[in-house]
Amino acid sequence: MKEYEIAVIPGDGVGPEVINEGLKVLRTVEELYDDINFEFIEIDAGAHTYKEKGYEIHPDDFERCREADAIYLGSIGLPGVNKPDGTIVGSEVLLALRFKLDLYVNLRPIKLYPGVKTPLAGKKPEDIDFYIVRENTEDLYAGIRGRVREDVACDVKVATRKGAERIIRYAFELAKREGRKRVTCCDKSNVLGSCAFFREIFTEIGKEYPDIEKDYAYVDAITQWFVRTPEWYDVVVASNMFGDIISDLGAALMGGMGLAASANIGDSNAMFEPVHGSAPKYTGQYKVNPVAAILCGKLMMDYLGHPNAGKLIESAVTEVLREGKVRTYDLGGDSKTYEVGDAIVAKMRELHS
Ligand code: IPM
Ligand code: MN
Repeated sequence: MKEYEIAVIPGDGVGPEVINEGLKVLRTVEELYDDINFEFIEIDAGAHTYKEKGYEIHPDDFERCREADAIYLGSIGLPGVNKPDGTIVGSEVLLALRFKLDLYVNLRPIKLYPGVKTPLAGKKPEDIDFYIVRENTEDLYAGIRGRVREDVACDVKVATRKGAERIIRYAFELAKREGRKRVTCCDKSNVLGSCAFFREIFTEIGKEYPDIEKDYAYVDAITQWFVRTPEWYDVVVASNMFGDIISDLGAALMGGMGLAASANIGDSNAMFEPVHGSAPKYTGQYKVNPVAAILCGKLMMDYLGHPNAGKLIESAVTEVLREGKVRTYDLGGDSKTYEVGDAIVAKMRELHS
């Protein structure tokens, strides 16, 4: 029997509402699989914590995250909660976990589920099914920034060989594991030196994977190709900032932010978080879609080495979306957040029996 320690950070805004549904799903996994057990450790962190206590996360709690087998995070950030130095609230939690735990992969599956409407006319679920592999520790996020003069500010775009190699290798390994035929390198190497370097390393590492097709796209061009021919893409690897931007576009293709899950993965830690933010205007209304948070549970089960449990979660989500009886406002329904969670749990039990 495996006992996993999961650090749970519900966070701000609608974070707690969606994480609650994700926890229902994980408790159902625990119930249905004899060999899986969870210990959930709830951690108070975020903008509300900063407002109340003056820190975003207590250092002991940060260490609990490091020690846990996985971290499950809702969302961080509230309007009007800023720091005196102007830095965003969230950097001590979300970005600090990514950086200090060296979670260098940000995996963002882009998948249109049956029964969900994509804004792309004529595209079907089989046309929209790819992965964005976003580098998560370098680039414009490296933190080399500042007001260099009173009238000049800059952020330095950093690419290292180690950073590029490990994310590119992850992308090719993912393609291999998932039986995908193509990996696309998304960059701006026609202009930027850091991107030319990234592309060079992509070509070099690509040689280790002769069976996988190497594909190249500039980041500006890829935004139009995502819209015109999403079916072309299997795995797209990008540096941090470009990966951030194209993943919101990807989320739109799959029917909205309420469905987009992500996994932040390193060599010894991992954190799972819906791509959407804290959506403060919806807080407490139980309106928002918990599917993104629930699909994070699927990614967590895959990461922990229980792909069958991961499949069960995804199959239950797929069925509930396909049936279309229980769906939140973003998908054209009026179900409550917890009704979606309950329907997915019931479907898991049905599919498992
Ligand atoms: C994301 C978010 C974060 C990022 C913000 C909230 C710091 O946009 O996870 O995509 O830029 O990475
Ligand atoms: Mn983003």
